Amino acid sequence: MSIICFTSLKGGVGKTSMSLNVGHALAKMQQKTIFLDLDPAAHASRYFQGSEIKPFNTESPLAHLFLKEKNFNNLKEHIIHVRTNYDLIKGGAELRHFYWGRSATSFKTFFPQFIEYLKQSYDNIVVDTAPDFNVLLRNAIAVSNMVVVPIDSSAMSIDCLEELFNYCGHITKPDWSIIRTMVNSSATQVRTLSNSSIEQKLHNKRDEKPIYLLNSFVNRTENQNRLSFLHRTAFDLKDTKKLAEQYSAVALEIKGLLAYLAEPENDAENLSLAM
Ligand SMILES: Nc1ncnc2c1ncn2[C@@H]1O[C@H](COP(=O)(O)OP(=O)(O)OP(=O)(O)O)[C@@H](O)[C@H]1O
Ligand SMILES: [Mg+2]
Repeated sequence: MSIICFTSLKGGVGKTSMSLNVGHALAKMQQKTIFLDLDPAAHASRYFQGSEIKPFNTESPLAHLFLKEKNFNNLKEHIIHVRTNYDLIKGGAELRHFYWGRSATSFKTFFPQFIEYLKQSYDNIVVDTAPDFNVLLRNAIAVSNMVVVPIDSSAMSIDCLEELFNYCGHITKPDWSIIRTMVNSSATQVRTLSNSSIEQKLHNKRDEKPIYLLNSFVNRTENQNRLSFLHRTAFDLKDTKKLAEQYSAVALEIKGLLAYLAEPENDAENLSLAM
């Protein structure tokens, strides 16, 4: 059972595209997977709008269960089946109710119980988050096994990773990894600059906790934008096979890393991909 949280404090780095496709990759591997959309903007949920969700609204099942029903006995009614082995708990603007006051405090108690409940039925919980340091993100990180931070080709995405790690590196439970996305393979100078920035900014964090730089990556392709108009993942269409393969490689690498780290005799320093 894995809880994988995709996050970055930088907007538009590909968290949603990556998480919903990696989730679908895991479902395609016959692993029961649920996608938890913790973004009030609900981009991932809107992705399924038109097919599984119609019409889209701003309601959030989590807000409803936590704040109105005060239990999750009726959770199953809120789970949307989007693909074989792939379910969704929709996000929505109502999630913002948790940002302040007593709701924020009760979320801290309720959310881990809710995750424990989901764990009984799924092999993976994939979480998508908003580019904002809020109560939803902090609690998602606290329950996760792996935090995956997508970085694009910009320096800002690495700065934001450093900032997030400074805020959350002390949370002991999850391991941390970086996944490159929107990679233009011919932009070799950008790649070199990006590598040295990662090395420089995160080098002194090694002693605190390693951050694994995944070997897999996802190329920049207009197909990803096309898929968003069609409300499809890379696995739904034949002509996005290459993109689907890249997301599958990411999913396999994350699961492999989690399995490796779960063995007590395996030392993180032996991993070539550890930063
Ligand atoms: N591999 C890719 N190649 C080209 N464009 C991509 C790729 N991945 C994502 N995009 C596009 O980049 C934009 C941002 O992607 P996405 O919404 O996944 O990022 P995000 O980090 O979730 O954004 P936000 O911070 O707003 O939640 C979208 O237009 C998406 O279609
Ligand atoms: Mg997003």
